[in-house]
Amino acid sequence: MSEKTMNLTLRVWRQKNAKSDGKFVEYNAEGISEDMSFLEMLDVVNEGLTAKGEDPIAFDHDCREGICGMCSLTIDGKAHGPLQATTTCQLHMRSFNDGDFITIEPWRASSFPVIKDLVVDRSAFDRIIQVGGFVSVSTGGAPDGNALPVPKADSDVAMDGAQCIGCGACVAACKNASAMLFVAAKVGHLGLLPQGQAERDQRVLKMVAQMDEEGFGNCTNTTSCSAVCPKEIGQDFIARMNRDYAKAVFRSK
Ligand code: SF4
Ligand code: FES
Repeated sequence: MSEKTMNLTLRVWRQKNAKSDGKFVEYNAEGISEDMSFLEMLDVVNEGLTAKGEDPIAFDHDCREGICGMCSLTIDGKAHGPLQATTTCQLHMRSFNDGDFITIEPWRASSFPVIKDLVVDRSAFDRIIQVGGFVSVSTGGAPDGNALPVPKADSDVAMDGAQCIGCGACVAACKNASAMLFVAAKVGHLGLLPQGQAERDQRVLKMVAQMDEEGFGNCTNTTSCSAVCPKEIGQDFIARMNRDYAKAVFRSK
């Protein structure tokens, strides 16, 4: 069976650095196999640009298997593109048609400044994690997994939250550029486990304070974050974090 190929027109955001103005530039992507991933398609375009001595399009990526959260592209106005529960690196060209015109932009949020072209600085997320997104432990031998019983219902929900890969699509999709879904996933998965209880109050207070400090907007329940989340983190995590936050404020008085 012969491989199906397609010719596309790309409209790509090009921006030299954080301080320069950016603009859309059109490129032809020709002979693209439907079996290529979206990032492989960009690799082909970049090979052509490099061969012509032009600056290749800068875009972020690492694992290319949906686990690192690096591939942050807005494709035709949608964070991570047209498929539900799919990162950009797991999106394949069979989701597009021959002759398509595809617009590719970086995440748009003032807390994620553009570094170059499609690459944004998401270190604000790292700083939120650094203030409390962990469990402090004394070093030593790891205890037996069954020594600390965790109810199955709690471990299931904690694992749902732990799936967050910190990609930032939730921020990019939100009209307020809110980071609530990301922070709620991190606060929620630790707060549901026995190991996370000792620091539960200070964790939510510190992480929310850092989120505000970084300039992310507040949540107005549009649910656009969950709609684009490649790990399908639900709105219930935001509700859980709001409850945790209210209790922590009350107990800190
Ligand atoms: S909550 Fe979802 S969209 Fe937001 S950073 Fe985590 S995985 Fe990405
Ligand atoms: S490149 Fe790692 S999640 Fe896409």
